Order: sequence, then structure tokens, then C-alpha cells
Amino acid sequence: MVSDAWGRTVTDVRISVTKRCNFACIYCHDEGLGPVARPGAPHGEELTVAEVERLVSTGREFGIRSVKFTGGEPLVRADLEEMIGRAVRQVPDVSLTTNGSMLASRAEGLRDAGLKRVNVSLDSIDPKLFREIRHGALGPVLAGVREALRVGLTPVKLNMVVFRSTVDTIPQMIEHVAGEDGLHLQLIQFMPELVQHDRLAVDLAGVRRWLEEHASRVLVREMHHRRIYLFDGTEVELVDPVRNPEFCANCHRIRITHRGELKGCLNRNDDLIPTRGLNDEQLREAFRRVITLRVPYYGGYVTDLVAGAAAPAADVPRAGGAVTASDGPSS
Ligand code: 5AD
Ligand code: SF4
Repeated sequence: MVSDAWGRTVTDVRISVTKRCNFACIYCHDEGLGPVARPGAPHGEELTVAEVERLVSTGREFGIRSVKFTGGEPLVRADLEEMIGRAVRQVPDVSLTTNGSMLASRAEGLRDAGLKRVNVSLDSIDPKLFREIRHGALGPVLAGVREALRVGLTPVKLNMVVFRSTVDTIPQMIEHVAGEDGLHLQLIQFMPELVQHDRLAVDLAGVRRWLEEHASRVLVREMHHRRIYLFDGTEVELVDPVRNPEFCANCHRIRITHRGELKGCLNRNDDLIPTRGLNDEQLREAFRRVITLRVPYYGGYVTDLVAGAAAPAADVPRAGGAVTASDGPSS
């Protein structure tokens, strides 16, 4: 097993298949890329199905046991089903994070291709608030969730970004999720690093306390040591990475950008390793480098956790390779 200087191995990869998205969420660092009329062929620089298959196959040699496709919005790719079909032959545990707006008509085909589960971004079940946050319509997303449940893409995890507009509606969302079999909720802390500002951030201490007081049980997940709160059998997971060294110390995830660069940390773009044009041995070396050079963002890359400002430490190892513009958002 290959590990980094902190003893962390890698079991999980997130592959961004596009930067394009038909929504424009206010917390997203790309604010969407404008309307997408209908799913289409890959755009110029986006990974092809064959490239994805090769990356997954090589990742498996390095301990990758699960693959999640993300974007932008991955369903803007008309060839996503084919991509999933090829990926599951290498690594059976394949899931998808989507904004849900185009899911209803494709859920069954995705399942038939071998997809196991979906995460759907759903910050609010109030149509007005949903539109304010995401600049898109709630109805099709709810239809997508229903269809995913119907075809068995379960558990369907709803991702709710916790920030100023949503923090007061958490109990209401838990009630919604607890009322339907097969739904889980992920409360995702707003990440200021992705958007270079913290105007939307809220302190999660009160949320944590509320969850502890109201949940029937609390579990800890191996990945990131995330807390899972049980509400009558319904899982509510708190994803709170911001300024949390325990989260980063237990991170076993790498990422691949839509251009095929290996990426060791969500919050960084100075560690990207391009893979296009590499032969098999060079590709293995690229995986070895991205895994061994990973640095826990909080507690490794950012060390002044008490002082407030999150400046990078001076002496972190650099992966080298191209420093490029930021990767697509991870919806
Ligand atoms: N902070 C937290 N979550 C974010 N997402 C996108 N941008 C941010 C941010 N700045 C969310 C999407 C999706 C998840 C994978 O990431 O809403 O649900
Ligand atoms: Fe699109 Fe996801 Fe960004 Fe929202 S967070 S604009 S759904 S990529």
C-alpha cells in the first residue's frame, strides 16, 4: 500500500467529468456555467470514456475501492452511462453526485449501467429559497430523487450546504428525510476556501449541539471521522472539514479534474499532476506521486489554526506539475 508522510492511504477517487452546470449556486465557486439545454457530447478538454476507464483501472492498483463521478453537473454528459458501465468493471462501487435536475429520466439507465447510489444536492425543500440559492427549479430535483428511490439507487443521500440561508431549516429538513425510506441527509459545512470568502459561513457549534441532543445515537464514519447522527433509523451525517485537522487526518480521497489531472486535495490547485499523454508506467508514477505527496490541508498545509487567517505553511512538499486554474465545483 502506498501512503503519504502522515500514514494516509487512498481508497476513494472523485472524478469530475465536466465543469459545465445548468445551475448557479451562490456558494459554488464557479457559480455555474450557464444554461445547458440538453445533455451532450464531451466538450474539448473533458475526459473521454476511455481515459476514465484507464484512470480507474490504474487507480485500482493503488488501492482505490470506490469511485464517485462529480462535476460541474455530471449529467450534462450524454455518455455518463457508458462511462459508469466501463468504470464498474474495474471498481464495482461507483456512485454519483448530481444536482438532480436531469436525474428523473436517467436514473433507471444509470442503475442498469451499474451505478450503486446517488448524492443529490438539495439545500432546501422550499421552492422559493431553493431558487434563491441555486438559480434553478426545485420540482425536477424532487422528481429525480423520487425516481432514484424507485429504481433502487439507495441510499439517496441529500446534500445540504449549511450556511446563512439554510442553517435555521435543518430540523425541517431532517423531518423531511426521516419521513421517507431510503433517504439520508448530509449536512455539508460551507467551505470558504472554494469561493475565497467566508461571507456565507456560520458557526456549526450550535448545529452540533442540537444534533447531539436530538439524535437517538451517534456513530463515527471511518472516512474523515465524520459524525453520523441517527434519527429514528435515518442517517444524518455532518461533513465539517473547515479548520478540522481530524477530518483531514482521516481523508483517504484523491480527485481527478475534468482535464485528467490528479489532485491530492479539494482545497488546493497547486498540487495538480497532468496525466494526458502518459504511458502506463508514467501514469503509475503519477498516481504514486499524488498519493505520497498528499498533505492534510488543515494541520499540515494550513497550520495556524488558532490564529484565524488560513495561510499555507511554507515548507509543504509540492507535487510539481502544472499549476492551473481551479477544477470544476464538486457537485
Ligand atoms: N461549500 C460547501 N459545499 C459546496 N458545494 C459546492 N460548493 C460548496 C461550498 N463552497 C457542494 C454542492 C454539493 C457538494 C458535493 O458540494 O452543493 O452538494
Ligand atoms: Fe452546479 Fe453543483 Fe456548482 Fe450548484 S454546486 S452550480 S449544482 S456545480
